[in-house]
Amino acid sequence: MNIIVTKGDILKEKAELAVFGVFSGTQTFSGELKAADKALGGLLTVMTAEEQFGGKLGDQLVLHTHGKLPFNRILLVGLGDKKTFNLEALRRAAGAMVRYAGKIEATSVVCIFANAGLDPAEAAQAVTEGALLADYKYLTFKPKEAARLNKRKPMTLTLVAPEAVSVRSIEKGIALGEVYARATVYARDLVNEPARGMTPTHLKEHAERIATNDKNIKLKVLDAAACAKLGMDAFLAVAKGSDEPPYFLHLTYKPDRANKTYRKIAIVGKGLTYDSGGLSLKPTREMVTMKCDMAGAASVLGVFSVLSDIGADAEIHGLIAACENMPSGKAVRPGDIVTAMNGKSIEILNTDAEGRLTLADALAYTTTKIKPDTIVDLATLTGSCMYALGSDIAAILSDNKKLADYIKEAAARSGEEVCELPLYAGYAPFIIGDHADLRNVASIRYGDTLMAGLFLKEFTDDIPWAHLDICGPAFAERDVNPYTNKGGTGFGVRTMLNWLKGI
Ligand code: BES
Ligand code: ZN
Ligand code: ZN
Repeated sequence: MNIIVTKGDILKEKAELAVFGVFSGTQTFSGELKAADKALGGLLTVMTAEEQFGGKLGDQLVLHTHGKLPFNRILLVGLGDKKTFNLEALRRAAGAMVRYAGKIEATSVVCIFANAGLDPAEAAQAVTEGALLADYKYLTFKPKEAARLNKRKPMTLTLVAPEAVSVRSIEKGIALGEVYARATVYARDLVNEPARGMTPTHLKEHAERIATNDKNIKLKVLDAAACAKLGMDAFLAVAKGSDEPPYFLHLTYKPDRANKTYRKIAIVGKGLTYDSGGLSLKPTREMVTMKCDMAGAASVLGVFSVLSDIGADAEIHGLIAACENMPSGKAVRPGDIVTAMNGKSIEILNTDAEGRLTLADALAYTTTKIKPDTIVDLATLTGSCMYALGSDIAAILSDNKKLADYIKEAAARSGEEVCELPLYAGYAPFIIGDHADLRNVASIRYGDTLMAGLFLKEFTDDIPWAHLDICGPAFAERDVNPYTNKGGTGFGVRTMLNWLKGI
């Protein structure tokens, strides 16, 4: 899809489809819509009344122009209440527009650029994200459909800007939106690829490609032997049941300008390319979506794939302990005790609580080898998180209020939902082991998201740290909104980019 901007009168633009945003409660049309209504002999007014189109967010109304205007069809998209209008409403409206344009296979679409009080660059970015993400399809295993779509002329979306808004700022927003969408799509593709192909080796190859394509990024790969040397017993215990070799991936991004001291940030992603549960085997219905258990890693790779494009001005480390959790004669057993890289011993009571084991070593490595100023981890960590917050909202747990606030603010701008849960110290006694320092499942039944958070905190020392449990929103089991289809969502990528861009 090409997204371009122009100035002028939308009623003079030749296209298959023209799109207008309408706020709810709009009584009479004004401006271009009024003129369009007039050209159509008042049909717009009649139809919106008859169809009871009220401009509710997501509502749509289609009308054929029968040669009375230079475009074949008009699409009205509801923008919702003007008072609560924000970037996310715009993203969704743009998504709805592109979904409809895709359905009628339109290749030329013109659209009024309605920033309605929002910063024009940010509004253009939101429109671009919504449009490009709505256009996303995972077609690796539908080559015929992919070929058919590839043969088609790509859609050109022309944003018609009002006189008062600078084209330059809209173009800047479009460019940034393209970068954000590209990174998100990268993560979606990784998550959607089934685990038989998306192995730890394959994740490593992706990291290698990212490092090869960007001179600012270096990659260090540790194989099982190197991990053993460092004492990553917890990570390797999880990997042992699988025939796929595990890899520990350490990406480092350094900005261009030398001789400057940078803040050091680390982003850690859970990288279970498949989570069968191990010997604590999951039932099939819970196993079917477990290719998504590397969504944290996918988001880290998505972020790294565009760090140079956003001109990130910090030294940024990306860490992924990539492995597969499988049952076999070599698998770690419930009752086994392992010792993580920082010397803490862990009683494994349930091999399905494997994420916190791999993250234990990833965080211990980060804390002792990198010593960053800030650590953020993204992990599809606990099913409990979905009981607490449902499928669309991530949990954030942090030992640093400022950091949590920065990330919540970045999430709000990206339209990604996060909600803070407490690292309640009162629960800490429940993760102490009987015969080891820690246990990987708590001794009481409830609140596993908090227990897992407290467990991870044992491996971050005093470094300000935030943990995002993306269990629900990383993988959509239904179409969530007009720009987020079923499957991998790339959740976390745009929030992290917003946060890192502001550093
Ligand atoms: N990968 C799962 C969590 C998960 C569940 C991710 C659903 C995505 C969708 C994690 O490794 C897990 O299995 N957690 C267990 C922990 C329990 C054994 C304490 C869970 O939540 O059931
Ligand atoms: Zn598990
Ligand atoms: Zn898992």
